[in-house]
Amino acid sequence: MSCRIAVFGTGYLGATHAACMAALGHEVLGVDVDVAKLAKLEAGEVPFFEPGLEGVLKSSLESGRLRFTSSYEEAADFADIHFIGVGTPQRRGDFGADLSHVDAVIEKLAPLIRKPSVIFGKSTVPVGTARRLGRRVRELAPVGEHAEVAWNPEFLREGFAVQDTLHPDRLVLGLDPSAPGRAEEVAREIYAKLIDEGIPFLVMDLATAELVKTAANAFLATKISFINAMAEVCEAADADVAVLADAIGRDERIGRRFLKAGVGFGGGCLPKDIRAFMSRAGELGADQALTFLREVDNINMRRRSRMVEMTREFVEGRLLGARVAVLGAAFKPDSDDVRDSPALNIAGQIQLQGASVSVFDPKAMENSKKIFPTLTYAESAIAACTGADVILVLTEWAEFRKLLPGDLEDVVRRTKIIDGRNCLDARTWRDAGWDYWGMGRR
Ligand SMILES: NC(=O)c1ccc[n+]([C@@H]2O[C@H](COP(=O)([O-])OP(=O)(O)OC[C@H]3O[C@@H](n4cnc5c(N)ncnc54)[C@H](O)[C@@H]3O)[C@@H](O)[C@H]2O)c1
Repeated sequence: MSCRIAVFGTGYLGATHAACMAALGHEVLGVDVDVAKLAKLEAGEVPFFEPGLEGVLKSSLESGRLRFTSSYEEAADFADIHFIGVGTPQRRGDFGADLSHVDAVIEKLAPLIRKPSVIFGKSTVPVGTARRLGRRVRELAPVGEHAEVAWNPEFLREGFAVQDTLHPDRLVLGLDPSAPGRAEEVAREIYAKLIDEGIPFLVMDLATAELVKTAANAFLATKISFINAMAEVCEAADADVAVLADAIGRDERIGRRFLKAGVGFGGGCLPKDIRAFMSRAGELGADQALTFLREVDNINMRRRSRMVEMTREFVEGRLLGARVAVLGAAFKPDSDDVRDSPALNIAGQIQLQGASVSVFDPKAMENSKKIFPTLTYAESAIAACTGADVILVLTEWAEFRKLLPGDLEDVVRRTKIIDGRNCLDARTWRDAGWDYWGMGRR
């Protein structure tokens, strides 16, 4: 059955969700306050880089099932199912989540709800938020308790957003036990095709659903920082963290995935989500439970400083005047997202210490220029490396993984490379006479 859905916020999460819900056969209206973004989406252009999304967006627009608007009135008239996908960034000046965008959607939308409706939250929010929003919606909506709030956290990974939206590992739905309603039945209708495919549909209370998302991110961040802590020990003990990860990863209880030492995690989710989680635990009086996340964060940030130090060591202790090529700016490959990107953070730190830094990224150049306009941006990997004293590989794009010593040795000033993602074959580079350093490797 086709549902009428509005999706508030058409960023990485919302644009993907809107296009994919239309692909499932629903009628969808994407709503945003950014009219330039809406104009692009209406023209079938994805305003960010996400493999496969443009095809789904275009076919959904052509089918007539997907439209975009900035009008909340139009959205409230059109739909009786609303998804919230606006941002929840870190608050300025502290660790908590800035919920002003989520609150703004509720304050504007709820007074317009005149028919029984369900609002599903998808944004990542601190535990307790959904319950508060549910109360506020019932207060503001002309239909009163016939306007419900449920939470349906999103687990998509940038770079795999379409696949993760249409074929997720699981669907999580949080319901408010104090305000029973139709949310479960409606969610089962929306996701009928996925549920028929056998995707687990997990129903729980609101607080647990909110926590599933933050706990998942906390676990992933911990796994990355664990292997990066092992990298620190390996560096001190002259051992090899990649070999160690292969060996411990063979144990099914541990698993090899996400055990890749490197310059650490970044992006618009993990860093701010673990901080918001610590902040919320503090408010709840459970801060001791999450003090380990502060260490997870510290280990992660230390990797960035370590990379700066390794670069300094590689240019005989003087960054001043050194020429450094940085390959990669996005926080991970197959994305143009540079929010809290380790690559750009490292490039910026090295430049501040007097080096001349030339950056190349296959997709994230425009976004990088906006937040780090003073770095030099090259047209290609080869151009970035031309004249370099040292090359840093900081995002593991396939294009960089495929680079061979012969591609670069005629353009660099010195044959030195630091593999910040342990994504190159160390032996190939060393055999070709390069000084190669990986993270946590001999
Ligand atoms: N990006 C991801 O991979 C991902 C994955 C899972 C969960 N999430 C969560 O999803 C949420 C959104 O993340 P994102 O990466 O898509 O953010 P984003 O910044 O790309 O998109 C947010 C969008 O919301 C719009 N917006 C802001 N205020 C609005 C309002 N009042 N009404 C309508 N639109 C408004 C903005 O203009 C922007 O287009 C966050 O809570 C994030 O933690 C993101």
